[in-house]
Amino acid sequence: MSKPRVLSGVQPTGNLHLGNYLGAIRNWVGLQDSHACLFMLADLHAITVPQNPADLRRNTRETAAAYIACGIDPKKSAIFPQSAVTMHSELAWILNCHTPLGWLNRMTQFKEKSGKNKENAPLGLYAYPVLMAADILGYHATHVPVGEDQKQHLELARDIAGAFNRAYGEEFFPLPEPLILPTAARIMSLRDGSKKMSKSDPSDYSRITLTDDADAIAKKIRKATSDSTPGVTYEPATRPEIANLLTIYAALTDRTPQAVAEEFKSEQTSNFKSKLAEIAVEKLSPITANMRELMNDYSMLDALLKEGAERARAIATPIFTQARQRVGFLQV
Ligand code: TYM
Repeated sequence: MSKPRVLSGVQPTGNLHLGNYLGAIRNWVGLQDSHACLFMLADLHAITVPQNPADLRRNTRETAAAYIACGIDPKKSAIFPQSAVTMHSELAWILNCHTPLGWLNRMTQFKEKSGKNKENAPLGLYAYPVLMAADILGYHATHVPVGEDQKQHLELARDIAGAFNRAYGEEFFPLPEPLILPTAARIMSLRDGSKKMSKSDPSDYSRITLTDDADAIAKKIRKATSDSTPGVTYEPATRPEIANLLTIYAALTDRTPQAVAEEFKSEQTSNFKSKLAEIAVEKLSPITANMRELMNDYSMLDALLKEGAERARAIATPIFTQARQRVGFLQV
């Protein structure tokens, strides 16, 4: 029996943070034995907002280094830049032609990212979720481990698969399932408990990144917004900032936020923050050190990505050939 196929990815736009790690990458690690895994560097997605080419190249390698430092084994899983496998863009075009505008108009991420200036937003930003559907469907992947913010895009991928299958009268694309682990599905900004931690937040203090050193981590946690209520309690509705810090602590130590709150209930917030900083440094510094070492050897990283792309292509090509045939393209 072949293993179920997993596909996921991160945009290589720099500032890889604790939300990306706890909400996504960390959860990929445990899937590598039971599933056939493909982990891409979503560079086609990255250019939906302006990128400096040199930074994009560096961030693509750095994101690959982060995958490996977090425990993705390139011998088990294919790690590759999305743009290296042309199927992604080609299948996206076919799927664009099967996706009603009404479905895309519902996507909240486009609304957030395009802001008030929709007329000037690039077409690629609007079509982004269709490319994401192509990423997944083009490998017949059935499981997609992501954070909660990608759930709507996954639902759209299922709808697009259904639309294609109906058009050609056959269950060609399997409907992919999101794998969202509840513990760290949504890590929030350290400055504002109502906003998710994000790579693009202008404040560096809003996130802990995988390249922060011990001092930066401790400082960011110390300065994290909290409230004036004494004691540490897990009450997400009324104390979102403390709840977020408890969630981070719990995710880093494989416990529940309630259990962590119980341990710190009679402590001052500042003591809890110091302990959280210690735990975060302990868990993240080996990853940071490993990433730094991997980034010293671009030729090794590039060779791994080339090999990953070859493995990805070998899976994608026969599926894409069949999709082309369904549509009616000549094979010349
Ligand atoms: P991206 O690069 O925004 O985020 C990468 C992964 O990190 C998760 N994530 C979070 N999880 C918890 N808390 C947060 N604050 C947080 N911020 C980000 C995201 O849910 C994601 O899993 N479109 C995708 C990349 C992509 C993709 C795909 C993913 C392109 N094609 C196909 C899966 C399958 C994105 O922009 O992720």
